[in-house]
Parts: sequence; structure tokens; C-alpha cells
Amino acid sequence: MADLKTRYMGLTLSNPIIIGSSGFTTKPSTARQLEAAGAAALVMKSVFEEEIRHEQAEVYDSLAGYPHPEAEGYLLADYPSLVGAQKYLERLEAIKAAVKIPVFASINCVSSDNWMAYAKQLEAAGADGIELNIYDIAPAPGEDSNAVEAKQLEIIEQIKGYVSCPVAVKLAPFYSTLVSFARRAEDAGADALVLFNRFFQPDIDIDKMALVSGINFTQPQDIQLPLRWMAMLKPHLTCDLALTTGVHDAEGLIKALLAGANAVQIASTIYRNGMDSVGEILRGLEAWMESKGFESIAGFQGRLANPKDEQSFARVQYIKSFVGVE
Ligand SMILES: Cc1cc2nc3c(=O)[nH]c(=O)nc-3n(C[C@H](O)[C@H](O)[C@H](O)COP(=O)(O)O)c2cc1C
Repeated sequence: MADLKTRYMGLTLSNPIIIGSSGFTTKPSTARQLEAAGAAALVMKSVFEEEIRHEQAEVYDSLAGYPHPEAEGYLLADYPSLVGAQKYLERLEAIKAAVKIPVFASINCVSSDNWMAYAKQLEAAGADGIELNIYDIAPAPGEDSNAVEAKQLEIIEQIKGYVSCPVAVKLAPFYSTLVSFARRAEDAGADALVLFNRFFQPDIDIDKMALVSGINFTQPQDIQLPLRWMAMLKPHLTCDLALTTGVHDAEGLIKALLAGANAVQIASTIYRNGMDSVGEILRGLEAWMESKGFESIAGFQGRLANPKDEQSFARVQYIKSFVGVE
């Protein structure tokens, strides 16, 4: 039988399927079902920097007029570790108690701020790692790209200073120099990179002429964007890599592994096809490995990510696709 073990965030996972941050990763009962279905790890639904700050702000308010200003100073210096998004911590503890597989906490953040100490609480509550979902779409026309990237790197560096568990960064696909930024994220301490963050998808209702929420589920063909970047980034990085977006079946998982992923994170296929899809994908992977004679994932992982293929992923295929098409 094929060995499906893989390494991700410095941990050994029983197979490469991680349940991505989503509505399926908020409750102990579903976490247990997903583990039984074969998932090797899960990323909890994100807690938002704003939620953490909101609770901290309440502490600030309650301290207003505190009669001992010197003690207040100490309290404020320490407050992020005293409070936090309490419910999220409780949920994390409950999920950890319910399953044996690694559980990663996820923080949706835009700034490096004193909410960071909250990450330490997540670690203390049992998080096997922390995934940072840096939701920064830099909407201000005057924003400088170097400054935006420097802020993101500062977030990574700072959080690594707070926790000793591994930290993954779920990257956006929008950088003018993604390979360079990924290298700098790794230098800043990222133990893993996740390709890619999926931002809120807005749409327009033409009858109401109003902005509406678009469809957040992906299609199998959406894998092409992270697949290309996975193959292009892999030769330049030493940290672990996860691909998320468009893995709906065994074929998607195999493509991700061939491009260099250590693991994939899935969500849409669970919403569409149920939890049984985890087992189906794993059986498909095993059957493919058997048919190709691979005993372990290491036998083929990253096979299409060597530097000589880089040009194919960068431009050659593009030229081939369009030359001769009228
Ligand atoms: C309903 C839903 C909720 C999600 N919530 C989060 C979230 O809180 N944080 C996050 O980083 N990603 C979130 N995601 C993104 C998923 O983790 C995943 O990266 C994305 O859906 C792409 O994988 P897929 O093609 O398998 O759906 C969410 C996705 C869905 C469908």
C-alpha cells in the first residue's frame, strides 16, 4: 500500500489533505467527522484581527478612570495576553479535545499590532500552528507597494517573535514580484506558505445595480493559478507549501503534489460533495500512485517544479496556446 505521509509546517501528516479554513472547521463535531473521513489536519475558520482588538478595546474602556495609573500601565502592557477573542480560544480547545489530527488556528489580519500576543494564547490553547491570512488589498491610491510588503513582512517577523509553534502565511496571488516576496516571507520566518488566499468575491446585481456577494466556491479549473505559482516558487524556497483553490478531486491533488505542494487545503468540494470526498480523493491518489509505481509521495512530489520547467510555467505555454489560434 502506498505511503501517503507528507511533511507540512514541520509536522508529519498522515496524508496531504488538510481541511481549509471554512465553516467546516469551527465545531468539534464536524472536526471529528472530517478526521474520520480521512482528513490529515484542519485549519480553523479565521478569527479577525478586528475581533481581537474589539475585546481589547473593551478592556481599555473598563480601565478608563482606573484609580492606580501605575498599575494601569502594567495592565495595558500585558493586556493582549489577558484577553482576546475568548470564544475562538474556547472553540480551539474543544476541537483539540475532539480530534487527534493537527489543528491550525487562523488569524485574518492587516496590520502588525498588539493583537499579536493573542497568537501566544492560541499556542497555549493547543494550536499546532498558526496560519496568517493577510487580508491586505491596499485600496488607497497613494499606497506604496514597498511599504505594503514591508508591513506584511513585519507581521510575519513579529508573530514569530511571539510564538514557538510553526507559522504559515496564506498569500494573496497579487504581487508584482511574487517569487521575491515569497523568499522574503520565508526569510522573515514563515514555516509554510499557502497558495492562495481567496478574497471576498464581489459581484454586481444589474437589476438592483448594487454590489452583491459573489460565489465563494471554486471550480476545478481554478487550480491553474496556484498550480503555476506552486511550480514557479518551489525551486526557490525551502519552507513547506500548501496549495488551496480548486482541488476538488484526486486529479487536482496529484497535480498540486507534482507542482511541489507538500499538502492541499480543500473546502469547496466538501460543501459540494460532502465529507466522503476526502476518502474518495485519497483512494484516487493511492490508485494513481500504484499505477505509476510510486511507493511514497516523495517519489514524485515537485517533479514538475524543477527550474528547467520554470519557463514553461512562465511564458512558453502561453505562447504555444495562442500561436496558431485565429
Ligand atoms: C464558506 C467558506 C468560508 C471560508 N472561510 C475562510 C476563512 O475564514 N479564512 C480563510 O483563510 N479562508 C477561508 N476560506 C477559503 C478556504 O480556506 C480555501 O482556501 C478556499 O475555499 C479555496 O479552496 P477550495 O477551492 O477547496 O474551496 C473559506 C472558504 C469557503 C468556501
